[in-house]
Amino acid sequence: MTRSLRGSEIRRLPDDAAPGVADTRLLPNDDFAAAWSAIVLPDDMKQRLLRTAVAEAHLRAAVPFDALPLHGVVLLTGKPGVGKTTVARGLANQVARAVTHAAQWLFVEVDPHSLASSSLGRSQRAVEQLFGTLLNEHAAAGPMIVLLDEVETLFTDRAALSMEANPVDVHRAVDAALVGLDRLARRHPQMLIVATTNFSDALDPALASRADWIVEVPLPDRAARRQILEHAAAAVAAAFPGACRLLEPALLDAAAEEAAGIDGRRLRKAVATACAYRPEAQGDPDRVTGQDLLAVLREEGGH
Ligand SMILES: Nc1ncnc2c1ncn2[C@@H]1O[C@H](COP(=O)(O)OP(=O)(O)OP(=O)(O)O)[C@@H](O)[C@H]1O
Ligand SMILES: [Mg+2]
Repeated sequence: MTRSLRGSEIRRLPDDAAPGVADTRLLPNDDFAAAWSAIVLPDDMKQRLLRTAVAEAHLRAAVPFDALPLHGVVLLTGKPGVGKTTVARGLANQVARAVTHAAQWLFVEVDPHSLASSSLGRSQRAVEQLFGTLLNEHAAAGPMIVLLDEVETLFTDRAALSMEANPVDVHRAVDAALVGLDRLARRHPQMLIVATTNFSDALDPALASRADWIVEVPLPDRAARRQILEHAAAAVAAAFPGACRLLEPALLDAAAEEAAGIDGRRLRKAVATACAYRPEAQGDPDRVTGQDLLAVLREEGGH
């Protein structure tokens, strides 16, 4: 593995208007670094994810596939709003920082929804085009991380397909995606794939079996809930000083307790909703109170 002169070769970005491409960037990237630090996961889950991805990068680059059949695929599962997509982007950035190459790392986010098509054969061709041509070419040019977000859309469980809604086409598209993935994995040891799903039951088992590691991202525990609320409240207070009432330690303790079962996305939104809770405050975030936040979390928790 080349370890010198990171960034000396500037990578060409794929056309992000190509079917199936949602986002492309060169790594490291500051937005992704912020995403990584904003995510709160239990114990050493974040560091372990990073160690695993880094070990994969090293192993895949040096050990033949037939001896160690690593596809370079990490699968993140978990309920909606627990931070899977954010973790995946942040992880891509951390890996790019930890494992340096002569060329810059490229990040490509795939939008599987735009590959789905109702007309027979079209989605299969779009999948082949994405995996066989676009990703293949860019992986050949240097290290690359691909985010397959909501991967059940692309790798739908073929056994569960009913005969309605063009299943032949879906079957072919899933087959094409698996073939494409296998080829990419064998040809490009400098490529990693982070896949996410909140419907692991709808996922074709052939994808899960190709994943080198499957990680369930949990709902935040009490300590994580407190940290997420504090982070969101601090961001609001930076712009509206009155919101520093939400940063009072005893209030954060009570709020974290009240918020049991609420995911990270809803927790952050609750801080915004609290700003609109009491009619007298007239939507002014400077006038939000701890009681507003507790009331919103109580309502959220009841849903
Ligand atoms: N554990 C967490 N720590 C901090 N912030 C979190 C956490 N979980 C979610 N969030 C915040 O919630 C928002 C949504 O997260 P994200 O989109 O990554 O979730 P997701 O698991 O991909 O959801 P979905 O399954 O609906 O796609 C982000 O702004 C993220 O920062
Ligand atoms: Mg997501």
